Amino acid sequence: MDILNAFREYQEAATAAIEGASTAEELEQVRIEFLGQKKGKLRELQGLVGKASKEEKPLVGKAFNEARTNVTARLEQRISGLSQHSQSSTSDFDPTLPGQLPPLGAIHPVTRTIANFRELMGRFGFRVVEGPEIEDERHNFDALNIPEDHPARDPLDNFYIATAAKTAGGPILLRSQTSTVQIRTMEAAKPPVRIVSLGRVYRPDTMDATHSCMFHQMEGLMVDTNVTMAQLKTLLSLFARSFLGPDVEIRFRPSFFPFTEPSVEVDMKWGDSWMEVGGAGMVDPNVFRAVGYDPDKVSGFAFGLGIERFCMKHYEVDDIRRFYENDVRFLKQFA
Ligand code: DAH
Repeated sequence: MDILNAFREYQEAATAAIEGASTAEELEQVRIEFLGQKKGKLRELQGLVGKASKEEKPLVGKAFNEARTNVTARLEQRISGLSQHSQSSTSDFDPTLPGQLPPLGAIHPVTRTIANFRELMGRFGFRVVEGPEIEDERHNFDALNIPEDHPARDPLDNFYIATAAKTAGGPILLRSQTSTVQIRTMEAAKPPVRIVSLGRVYRPDTMDATHSCMFHQMEGLMVDTNVTMAQLKTLLSLFARSFLGPDVEIRFRPSFFPFTEPSVEVDMKWGDSWMEVGGAGMVDPNVFRAVGYDPDKVSGFAFGLGIERFCMKHYEVDDIRRFYENDVRFLKQFA
């Protein structure tokens, strides 16, 4: 029967075309040509089936179906073979191999201490505020009751920015203390105030084991009615014990700061000796006047602590310079 020959030829041609194709696109072309529903060769064969006589029809129909099934199966086989091949050749990634860990950094001990301080002071009800590191003389000195001729204003003891003075309309310096933020806070808000501010301060000190020309302070300020020295001492003792443990010894020594009256120096026991960790006192009425607060109505305490000194004690670091040398052997101990 001619018609059966036509099926065989169709199948042979289709198989040859399938084997001859080498890409997915070529296989798609083959599919359209041999199996396409609209114009392909299969359509022609279907027409032949329609023309077969009644007796021949079952045989012809069966042969048609067989040819179509065979060609379809062969094509699908090639398609899936191709896609498997391309997957394995483009990727030799083995997800079961152990990974390579990038070297991880660690949070710097000073940064860590700052985070601890913020958290602890937050529990005591102190809000954290920020202040600029470049300051004018009003915020670094004048409003803090530090007179023009005070030795703390000596240009040799401060980093004045000579070129900035002209454009800024007055002398500008890197702040030498975070007490500046007391002034900025009170200028911006009415009492009551309960803030801490943690950040860098700059002084042209000679570097040694306990001094650096840049270090960090935590400033605290509480202003309300009837604030007392007893509250200040309780707060600082509780704070030191919370950070360094219940055995830490803190003492308060009478001292002088222009912006507090009375003033104390705060020392911490270090081995057999005492180390100064900051200053504190009751806010001087002149400071309240400078920011427009009425000293007859409010009272307050303030304190400024050296963050590095606490950090040294906490991590048993005996030289402040270690913090700034970027020596990985030192820093990775805090990972
Ligand atoms: N600003 C002082 C300093 O850097 C420390 C200080 C002393 C801050 C007494 C205060 C304070 O708030 O009341 O040496």
